[in-house]
Parts: sequence; structure tokens; C-alpha cells
Amino acid sequence: VIIRAVMLGVGEWARKAHLPALTAHPQVQVVACVDADSDRARSAAADFAVPAWYDSLDALLADRVEADLLVIAAPDDVHPAAIRGALSAGMAVFCEKPLANDAPTAIALSEEARAVGAVASVGYSFRYSPAVQALRADLASGVLGEPWLIEVAEHNAQFHPLMGKPLNWKADPEHARAGALFEYGSHVLDLCLWLLGPATSVSAHLVKVLPQSRLDDIATLQLQFAGGAVGTLVSSWLLTGGFPGITIRLHGSRGLCQVELNDTIPGGERYSHYELDGSVREVVTTAPLLHGPSSYARLHLDDLVRVVSKRTDPGDVLPTIAQAAHTQQVLEAALSATRSWVQIPAPLTVFPSVP
Ligand SMILES: NC(=O)c1ccc[n+]([C@@H]2O[C@H](COP(=O)([O-])OP(=O)(O)OC[C@H]3O[C@@H](n4cnc5c(N)ncnc54)[C@H](O)[C@@H]3O)[C@@H](O)[C@H]2O)c1
Repeated sequence: VIIRAVMLGVGEWARKAHLPALTAHPQVQVVACVDADSDRARSAAADFAVPAWYDSLDALLADRVEADLLVIAAPDDVHPAAIRGALSAGMAVFCEKPLANDAPTAIALSEEARAVGAVASVGYSFRYSPAVQALRADLASGVLGEPWLIEVAEHNAQFHPLMGKPLNWKADPEHARAGALFEYGSHVLDLCLWLLGPATSVSAHLVKVLPQSRLDDIATLQLQFAGGAVGTLVSSWLLTGGFPGITIRLHGSRGLCQVELNDTIPGGERYSHYELDGSVREVVTTAPLLHGPSSYARLHLDDLVRVVSKRTDPGDVLPTIAQAAHTQQVLEAALSATRSWVQIPAPLTVFPSVP
């Protein structure tokens, strides 16, 4: 079965991850590129030998282009209308994260996809990391014992002033509801939920560091999971890190396992078991990433194509739209959990200042 795919939003990530993956896939034929910027749509179509391009999804649908899958890598505020366009045309959906800018919309989208029986997945692609999957298998088989605390972080210096890339729509409240929390925090939050199940409460601290920032540059969350474990999350687009700059430390009653996803590590990933005294017991060998940092999106798209073409059960890795709606509920709660701070009395003593 050949899956006819349309690529919507042909910016940085689509060119780096989705278009190379889709055009190399033996079962996929990319039938059109769509971008609001027609020069980008035209040049992506030319560069990836895609036969047609459009400057809007409406124009593509009006042209009655036949397609089975819409891959969405446009700004966050564009996601809902694009998903609805795909569902109305009977297409399956791969939408980049976060699903939407607010939880009610995310829940409505999930319900609408369910109502029409569409396969719909959201770009929480780090579930396809071999190291993350090894951690999940160890958790399931009891190697870690009862999970107590998860510490997750995703940070790299994408928008650090010294990196030369100015803040873009990702830091603009017209297009994104949160900054680093949505851009990176949503990914590691999804991993927490995939590993430990639903979260029941959250507190957050969202910080603007750059003078021109209108959304958070650094976000920290504390999480309580229904299963009993607690968590801490740090995300930022200013702090030092490789790509993707993810660390997961899962502490259980039998010790600690740690995952590092970072392209400065040979192979891009490391998965380690620790002794209680902090020494490394074992560095577990995991499958190599064959396509560098775009491997995660490739493996994700492979899985989605499998589900769409064979019409099979999604299994338990594919990030479903319903799961992404819960991630959005946690994000929504985090955004309203930033206003309750308990004041601490002044200290009894003076702390020495740094000379
Ligand atoms: N999973 C990951 O690791 C990962 C990495 C980077 C980005 N992303 C996600 O991918 C998406 C795109 O991010 P990016 O970094 O490529 O951004 P980008 O700005 O480089 O690209 C976005 C593209 O969408 C186009 N666009 C804007 N409005 C549109 C509309 N209404 N219809 C069609 N196209 C439109 C823009 O012209 C641009 O070409 C975001 O949702 C982002 O969160 C995911």
C-alpha cells in the first residue's frame, strides 16, 4: 500500500526531519508541499522532488488533491485548523507538538478525530528513542522497583543570543501560548506521562530571562502522578545542551536509571544503571540512531505509516491525539499554577555576597 502524504509547513524542522523521512520511505509518496510562504512551498517541492505545492491547505483541498496523510509542521496556532482540514478530507494526521495552544481545543480535536475514526498522532517522537524504550522496558519488568521520583530536563541553547538565532514565532504570544515550556517542556512531559501514567497536580515557575522575551525562556515544573511518583521538569532554549538535550533520571525503590539524549555523546544516546552509592553499574547498549537527531521523527513516521497502511492497532508507542490532549491538560494546569507563591520570611542572617 502506498500512502500519499501532504507536508504542511516546510520550515526548519520539516526540511530537517519530515521531508527526508517521508521521501525516503518506500511506502510513502509525498504528493504536495503546503506553506503560507509560497517561495518556501515552491523551493521545498523542488528540493525534495515533490510534484505540487500550494500556499494553503484550503487551496489544496479545493484542488481535490487525493491524499491519505497530512503531516503538520507549522506554528502551534495553525495546528487546530490544519487537523480539522485533514479530518474533513478523510486523512490521517501527524501533527507536530504541542497539539494546540489550549486544553479545551486539544480535547475537542481528540474527540473529533475519534468521531471520524481517524489515525492521528502528535510529534512526541522521543518515545522512539532506543534508550527511552529500554528504560520503559526496565520499568515494566521491575528492574527499578517502585518508581519514586522522575527528574526530566530538555534544554539547549537554540535561542541563546550568542548562537545568533533570534527569537521567532515560538516566543510570540500570537502563535505560541508558552515559550520553552511548549517548545521543549511538552516533549519531556510526554515522556513522563508515557513512563508513569497520568499526572494529577502540577506547580510551575516560568521565567523570562532575555530583555525582549514575552514568553518563558526557562520553565520549571513539579509534578504529582496518579501512580504515586513525583517529578521535576526543567526546560529552556537558553541553557547549555546538545540536541535534543534531554535527560531523564528515574529513581525507583531499587535504584536509579538515567537516559541522556544528546548529539555530543557518541551515538547520540546513553542509558545507564546506577548503584545506590552513585557509581555506574552498567551502561546499557541500545540500538544505534541511524539518522542522527532526525532518527526519532523517522521512527515515529515509520510507525504511523505502518498503522495507517495496515489499519492495525496503534500499539503502545505511537503518541495518540488523546494522550497528547492529556499532555495539554497538564500544560494548561501548569500555566495557571504559576500564580500561587508562598512568601518566605526574611532570613535571620546575612548570606555572604559573591566577591
Ligand atoms: N519534534 C521536534 O523535535 C521538533 C523540532 C522542531 C520543531 N518542532 C515543531 O514543528 C513545528 C514547526 O517548527 P519549525 O521549527 O519548523 O518552525 P519554522 O518557523 O521553521 O517553520 C514553520 C513553517 O510553517 C509555515 N507556516 C506558517 N503559517 C502557516 C499556515 N497557516 N499554513 C501553512 N504553513 C504555515 C511557515 O511559513 C514556515 O515555513 C512546530 O510545531 C514545532 O513545535 C518539533
